[in-house]
Amino acid sequence: MLRSKIAGIGSYVPEKVVTNDDLSKVMDTNDEWIQERTGIKERRYGKKHEETTTTIGARAAEIAIERAGIQKEDVDFIIFATLSPDYYFPGCGVLLQRELGITKTEIGALDIRNQCSGFVYGLSVADQFVRSGMYKNVLLVGSEMHSMGLDFTTRGRNVTVIFGDGAGAVVVQPTEEENEGVLTTCLHSDGTYAEKLAFLNPGSHGGYHEKYTGEETDYGYSDAEYGEIFLNKHMVENAQIYPHMEGQFVFKLAVQKFPEVIKEALDKTGLGAEDIDMFIPHQANLRISQFVQKRLGLSDDQVWNNIQKYGNTTAASIPVALCEAVENGAVKKGDLVCLAAFGSGFTWGSALLRW
Ligand code: COA
Repeated sequence: MLRSKIAGIGSYVPEKVVTNDDLSKVMDTNDEWIQERTGIKERRYGKKHEETTTTIGARAAEIAIERAGIQKEDVDFIIFATLSPDYYFPGCGVLLQRELGITKTEIGALDIRNQCSGFVYGLSVADQFVRSGMYKNVLLVGSEMHSMGLDFTTRGRNVTVIFGDGAGAVVVQPTEEENEGVLTTCLHSDGTYAEKLAFLNPGSHGGYHEKYTGEETDYGYSDAEYGEIFLNKHMVENAQIYPHMEGQFVFKLAVQKFPEVIKEALDKTGLGAEDIDMFIPHQANLRISQFVQKRLGLSDDQVWNNIQKYGNTTAASIPVALCEAVENGAVKKGDLVCLAAFGSGFTWGSALLRW
């Protein structure tokens, strides 16, 4: 039976380390609050004007391509997951193709906007393409450059302290080996609470969400012309161009959905939590990961957490953590690896793979 497998994995995080103390110099926050609530000690920020979501994604992709034992020109499909793209459009998929110097046009590039679950969604799409025989070398990248679009004042502290920059990439290839590759993926969504964790402006909404949220916000539309609905001076002057998150609401749903979607994957494959060798959760919050670990009955060496060093890198967090676990010998051939994510949308998902 044809399956897909991760044939190569790479990651890249920018050099600049930003500690909690560094953030406390520009906003009213402190190391104790951040560590206690999230587990985060520091995060990385890209070089302004030099590094972008695409360029750091390319650094991770180059490593994944080399480790897969292929050439860049062998890539036949690109999937790029991010919520912090270089441009509003076109997406980072084609920019990555250019950055890597892939000049052939017999290739497709797909952009995924599924935020924290972007990598799991991307892996599922790659898996289907490979299983169907359509593509042989799918390059899947999750990359974020959050630091360029956060509110570095006390007003934005609940969001800003959590997020960091980073990129991870994998090459997904076919395998006919019995005991190897992606066993299953499970994907879910619920748009009911779309605005609970969202970045609304710039956008064409024109207040559309008010019928769902019941909350009226002044976006300066009374004076706005057609071309200004998307983005106007009022939004910029009133700090409406930053991510918004209702943290406790997100937390409560995350601790419910993570275990559910992992159980679903285990049930589908006839496996149990005791079969998991390594659990790589999306690095949203150390407390969420610890809660899920406990629910699954896993020991500390069966879970990979690195949010302490990198913060939440959204679409990049799973491939960065998986790459680190592999490089440290914590994931070995034949191991059952479980990936799971939950985030804005809300969208969530899981994947089980035999390494
Ligand atoms: N530093 C210091 N104080 C802060 C702060 C910061 N960075 N951010 C918020 N606070 C304050 C709040 O203003 C509030 O003050 P008040 O009590 O005087 O009003 C207080 O801390 C508690 O805020 P609250 O938002 O209730 O904290 P919390 O315990 O829910 O923790 C999160 C906040 C964001 C850490 C937590 O809700 C969380 O992690 N949620 C999940 C987020 C997530 O995973 N997002 C990504 C999804 S993929």
